[in-house]
Amino acid sequence: MKYNIAVIHGDGIGPEVVQEATKVLDTIAKKYHHEFVYTPVLAGGCAIDAVGECLPQATIDTCKAADAVLLGAVGGWKWDTLPGDQRPERALLGLRKELGLFANIRPALLFDALADACPLKAEIVEGGLDIVVVRELTGGIYFGEKGTKETPLGQAAYDVEQYSEEEVKRIAITAFEMAQKRNKKVTSVDKANVLESSRLWRRVVTEVAKDYPDVTLDHLYIDNAAMQLVRNPKQFDVIVTGNIFGDILSDEASMITGSIGMLPSASLAKGNFGMYEPVHGSAPDIAGTNQANPMATILSVAMMLRYTFGLSQEADDIEQAVKAVLAKGYRTPDIYTEGTTKVGTKEIGEYIRSEILS
Ligand code: IPM
Ligand code: MG
Repeated sequence: MKYNIAVIHGDGIGPEVVQEATKVLDTIAKKYHHEFVYTPVLAGGCAIDAVGECLPQATIDTCKAADAVLLGAVGGWKWDTLPGDQRPERALLGLRKELGLFANIRPALLFDALADACPLKAEIVEGGLDIVVVRELTGGIYFGEKGTKETPLGQAAYDVEQYSEEEVKRIAITAFEMAQKRNKKVTSVDKANVLESSRLWRRVVTEVAKDYPDVTLDHLYIDNAAMQLVRNPKQFDVIVTGNIFGDILSDEASMITGSIGMLPSASLAKGNFGMYEPVHGSAPDIAGTNQANPMATILSVAMMLRYTFGLSQEADDIEQAVKAVLAKGYRTPDIYTEGTTKVGTKEIGEYIRSEILS
C-alpha cells in the first residue's frame, strides 16, 4: 500500500526528531512492503521567516490532500515577541480547525525502564501507569468569541467558553470507543458546579454513556481531577474533557510519567484522518545539537500506523523496538541516569530501526 504523508518539520528540534521518525517509517516500509511518500510543508516560525505567515494556505491544502500529517514542533524565542495572532503557535490552532481535528489523544504511559523518572512515590504508581487523555480540540474557550472592551475599571478582555451538544457528543463517542478497547472506564472532567457549558457537557456525556453499557462512567470536577491525578493516578483509564482542561491535564499526566520526551499524540478528524506529533515542544536551546529525544515522534508515527492506516502489527513493532532499546540501557540526555548509556538523537533512532529489523 502507498500512503501520502504531509510533513511539517517546524522549528527548533522539530526537523531532527521528524527525520528519525520518517526513517523509522522507511524501515517499516522495507519490512512490510509499504510505500510512504512524504510531502514537506511549512508551518510555524520557519513559515513566518520564509513566507511571512505561520500557516500558509498551501500547507493547509497539502495537508488536506494527504492521508495523514506528521508534525515536529513549532515555536521558539525568535518569534516570542510577535503579537498573539501572529505567533507560530497559531499554526497549530489553525491546522486543528482547518483539518477538523476535534479529538486529541494523549497517552500517558510509564515505561518500565523509566519508572525512576516518575516524580511520584513508587507505591503510588506501582504496577505501571497507562492513562489516555482525550481532549476536545476545536471548540471551547480557545476558539470562542474573544475581544476587548472599555469598562469603568479600564480595558477588559474576554474569551468565551462555549460547547454545543454535537461537539460534546462526538468527543464523548471517541472516548467511549477508546475505553472499550482498554480498561472500560471513562472519567469525564468538567466544572459543572460553576459553568453552564460544563453542565451541558455532563448531560451529553451521560446520554452518550447509555450506548456503552460495558464502560463505566464517572465525573470529576477539574480541580479534583488535577488533585486525583497525583494522589491516585491508577484510578484513571480514559479521561475525556474540554479543550482548556485537557490542555492542562494532559501536561500534568505527561509529567507524572517523568518523561515528556517519550509521549506521542494524535489529533483525529472524522474518518481516519489525523495529525501526529510529539507532546513536547520545540526546545530551541538544544536544536541542532543531536541531543533531542526522537522517541515521542517515533511513537507518534506508530500511532499514525495504528489509527489512520490500520496497521497495528507495524505499530506494535515500533513500540516494541522503543521498549527494547530502553531495556538495553540506551538513553538520550533528557532521560539519562547513572548506569545507562547516553546516546544522541541519530544514534537512538538507528538503534530503534535495527531493533525493528532484528
Ligand atoms: C498543546 C499546546 C498548544 C495548546 C499551544 C501551543 C497552542 O499547549 O498542544 O497542548 O494549547 O493546545
Ligand atoms: Mg498544552
